[in-house]
Amino acid sequence: MANRKKAPEELRSHRWYGVKDLRSFGHRSRTAQMGYHKSDYAGKPVIAIINTWSDINPCHTHFKQRVEEVKRGIWQAGGFPVEMPAMSLSEPFQKPTTMLYRNLLAMETEELLRSYPADGCVLMGGCDKTTPALIMGAFSMNLPTIFVPAGPMLRGDFRGGFLGSGSDTWKYWAELRAGNISESDWQDVEDGIARSPGHCMTMGTASTMTSAAEVLGLTLPGAASIPAPDSRHAQMATLTGKRIVDMVWEDLKPLDFISAASFDNAIRAVLALGGSTNSLVHLIAMAKRAGVHLSIDRFDELARTTPVIANLRPSGKYLMEDFYYAGGLRGLLCNIKDLLNLDLLSVNGQTLGANIEGAKVFNDDVIRSAGTALLKNDGLAVLRGNLAPHGAIIKPAAMEQHLREHTGPAVVFKDYNDLNERIDSESLDIHKDSVIVLQSAGPQGAPGMPEWGQLPIPQKLLKAGVRDMVRISDARMSGTSYGACVLHVTPESHVGGPLALVKDGDLISLDVQARTINVLISEAEMRARRAAWSPPAPKFTRGYGTLYLKHIQQADKGCDFDFLEPEDLQGTHGDPEIH
Ligand code: FES
Repeated sequence: MANRKKAPEELRSHRWYGVKDLRSFGHRSRTAQMGYHKSDYAGKPVIAIINTWSDINPCHTHFKQRVEEVKRGIWQAGGFPVEMPAMSLSEPFQKPTTMLYRNLLAMETEELLRSYPADGCVLMGGCDKTTPALIMGAFSMNLPTIFVPAGPMLRGDFRGGFLGSGSDTWKYWAELRAGNISESDWQDVEDGIARSPGHCMTMGTASTMTSAAEVLGLTLPGAASIPAPDSRHAQMATLTGKRIVDMVWEDLKPLDFISAASFDNAIRAVLALGGSTNSLVHLIAMAKRAGVHLSIDRFDELARTTPVIANLRPSGKYLMEDFYYAGGLRGLLCNIKDLLNLDLLSVNGQTLGANIEGAKVFNDDVIRSAGTALLKNDGLAVLRGNLAPHGAIIKPAAMEQHLREHTGPAVVFKDYNDLNERIDSESLDIHKDSVIVLQSAGPQGAPGMPEWGQLPIPQKLLKAGVRDMVRISDARMSGTSYGACVLHVTPESHVGGPLALVKDGDLISLDVQARTINVLISEAEMRARRAAWSPPAPKFTRGYGTLYLKHIQQADKGCDFDFLEPEDLQGTHGDPEIH
């Protein structure tokens, strides 16, 4: 039973339903029009369910059913559920990238909550950008909030073995291009790799961000690891519906329990999971919405002392279904609990320590201990140097280790089209020690900073057995990808970052241990090239794109719009009384 801090007249929705005026007459009569009797909602918390279901989002197929289960819990607990569909951000379909629209969904979430009579909200997301977008919007509004993670799909099935989303797509695509598998093999991969509702089941961006949401305290304990088709996922949805009603009465809002320490916990978990490089841009943006300053350097600091203990693809061997059966996120957190702040509260009113109490690991090959870790540290590393003065990122856990210290000549592609046109050309002057460079793939340049950063290995090198090379871009990389890919180079080339000035044949030096990325040309040469550089034309001249280009920030700032950060809102969150 909720510890009630609020009277019904103090509910935010009372402004819509409870007062005696002409506008509230309209709200009540129009609610009656939808078939609800006054007893269905009067004096009850109105719970907005922000649902990112869409016919074009395969990761959220089950949300049509899950939303009914959330509603069931809300009704049972004495609330009034109101489903509000929001932009879906379907990773496999949206061009050029869902990242172009992450902030638009964040804005939509915030404005839905602000403009309608919501007392609390349930966020339904999971496919990559939906999780940070929903949470960013909800932080800015700061109503009682619980996140329902979509859950991973089942393992892919292929000829007696398993397939992992993304990771095995890249792997078998490379084998097809190398001539090692047939078109019929490739068709079987296509048919078997995605065979149930749910988000990607590798430790990609979706699993990384839903796990981070759980560690931040925004889901019910254990929620992020449950496979989407598992009946326990439906139960979690119903329990979420019940809990959010109590949270409204308790007036427990996310910014009451989210702090810099919560983000440290989330980063530790992401690192231990071997999580996605995308977590940097998302967690930095989420932190800012919560009024927490988070720098990319914090990821590097924590990476130096956090072991990678989840044996999950792309860094390891197993998939999210195995992870759940092995004990899931709660099990993993127990194995790194010495690195966590266990006193932080979560949506169920309990501390992280209480929420992982009694969790066990049932398969110590899937969830390792610090002593048997995949890597004893460096799940992610932040690089700097004259090629990336404001930083770049690499995932040492998912690359061939001999490339950690490497110098080679640049082979430069001026944009994505140039890359696609020339990468497989027999006449391309490239060898296994070359460094592949892609320009114009950042937040402004692509635009939208797509997941192009796992640049393809040229076909002739694949056939010669090469499977990893140093690759550099201002793009992001799918969390399911792997390789010695230097990503998020900041400032990006489109705005005149040094990446724009690199030429074919320049020697580029990567040193992961020293955390450096440099182009070996003189200062004077760099200055001369800069003087000769002129900025490219903007990629949009109308619509949302122009708003995006005008306000998008660079990767080290989380790629949020400058006008959405709390300092630009005079530190305010939430709910000005607008009539
Ligand atoms: Fe939706 Fe990967 S495509 S999570």
